[in-house]
Amino acid sequence: MAGKGHAWWQSGVIYQVYPRSFQDSNGDGVGDLPGLLARLDHLVALGVDAVWISPIYPSPMADFGYDVADYTGIDPVFGTLADFDRLIAAAHARGLRVILDYVPNHSSDRHPWFVESRASRDSGKRDWYIWRDPAPDGGPPNNWLSEFGGPAWTLDAATGQYWYHAYLPEQPDLNWRNPQLRDAMLAALRFWLERGVDGFRVDAIHHLFEAAELRDNPPNPEWRPGQSPARRVIRAHTMDQPEVQEAITAMRRVADAYPGERLLIGEAYLPIDRLMTYYGVALSGFQLPFNFHLLSTPWEARAIAALIARYEAALPPGAWPNWVLGNHDRSRLASRLGPRQARVAAMLLLTLRGTPTIYQGEEIGMTDVPIPPAQVQDPWERRVPGLGLGRDPVRTPMQWDAGAGAGFTTAAEPWLPLAADWRSVNVAAQVGDTSSMLSLYRALLALRHAEPALAVGAYASTAINEDDVLAYERRDEATGRRLCIALNLGGHPRVLAGFAPGAYVLLSTHLDRPGGMINSMVRLRPDEGIVMVHPC
Ligand code: GLC
Repeated sequence: MAGKGHAWWQSGVIYQVYPRSFQDSNGDGVGDLPGLLARLDHLVALGVDAVWISPIYPSPMADFGYDVADYTGIDPVFGTLADFDRLIAAAHARGLRVILDYVPNHSSDRHPWFVESRASRDSGKRDWYIWRDPAPDGGPPNNWLSEFGGPAWTLDAATGQYWYHAYLPEQPDLNWRNPQLRDAMLAALRFWLERGVDGFRVDAIHHLFEAAELRDNPPNPEWRPGQSPARRVIRAHTMDQPEVQEAITAMRRVADAYPGERLLIGEAYLPIDRLMTYYGVALSGFQLPFNFHLLSTPWEARAIAALIARYEAALPPGAWPNWVLGNHDRSRLASRLGPRQARVAAMLLLTLRGTPTIYQGEEIGMTDVPIPPAQVQDPWERRVPGLGLGRDPVRTPMQWDAGAGAGFTTAAEPWLPLAADWRSVNVAAQVGDTSSMLSLYRALLALRHAEPALAVGAYASTAINEDDVLAYERRDEATGRRLCIALNLGGHPRVLAGFAPGAYVLLSTHLDRPGGMINSMVRLRPDEGIVMVHPC
């Protein structure tokens, strides 16, 4: 087994489930927990180690679960607490860890805390949220903008004050400077840790605090029409404020009080130098602050090699890296890069040093699904239409088989439309196809688990990064075994210049290359990546 001496979350691979779209068990067109339970064996066969489930708490679904009305319950659309207990037991019985989504920045406006907070200026919970008087002209207290369009302040006419919301008005920001609120939120973590969850992905952590003085955010000279309206200002006073560090440390102390290395992953879209601070002083923060930088780096060998070098060099001593290529908020790999490069991307993600996270559907090469205007669900697209900001296209139902409803649902209409290609692109079709994307993911995951060099080994860059070829070495410190990964990021054949003969091929993205010794020059076909036993 790869990764002896490392924590499970270091040698492991995480799989993100967007529960509304994974598996429906009761025919209402929306995925649920019994559905997820019934599909756990897919995850076992795939070879992942942990499943992160996007929010399943009671919610009015203004932002599809990211507006939480009760931090310690399960929304009926997903099932019950008993379903959750069954799911966690079934996952653990299969050796799968379970990671929940924790949404500390904001609750739903229907959460009883907010209802009470809103009721009067003297409410005992007034200070659990962020209330401010209007500006002298009666308008919002300052120029802060909501991520989803419009001002970040909404007026409560009855009490004459505005509440702050980094996202929707239905997602009022919680005030983490209030000790009671903070205790209540930390208690929610304990509730789930005691039920056996193995960790949390912590939502939108960079938004947790805003500067207390409420100064205007400065204008962003780089903003152009067509970009998200929220980017008109630089979020100098609304993001990444110093107090967040202490709050993360408090969350980590809660998690560390439980046995078994409970994991905290932070969602923070930040520059590398700032992201590194989320590991905390002496690694007292997140074990894994999500690294989204591959999502914003051009798909070019030199640019990616430079990113890996910058990220590796910036890691604090002892900090464990991680890589992300997709999630429920971002365009899918096969749409961004095309189906052939999506395979190369899978090899990159699963051979880099650090914990990878795979988003559901990537393992079968699902693509972004165009959503007709009348079927749009995402509040972002509804508030800021036409700019391509909507996230529905990446949240369509998982394609399990060629039967009605793609095996996802027996309902006539799932909550979001199925992709047009679901009859051919689905799990059942790919299981038996030795050249499929699913077969590639399974082979990559099996290799990662078999080879400590890949799971936990050292990383070294090479001089080969030119002409579309990205190459790097992974080395198992214990045995000295060295693997070279060479990825052709372009559509032309490439020869690995200066590469000594004698490489032993373990795996190609094309899956048809026979394993064995290459006693001549190593040639990569268009869009081919290979893993070899060889120094780079
Ligand atoms: C995070 C989630 C996103 C959600 C937002 C507000 O970015 O990933 O889906 O809309 O936070 O909670």
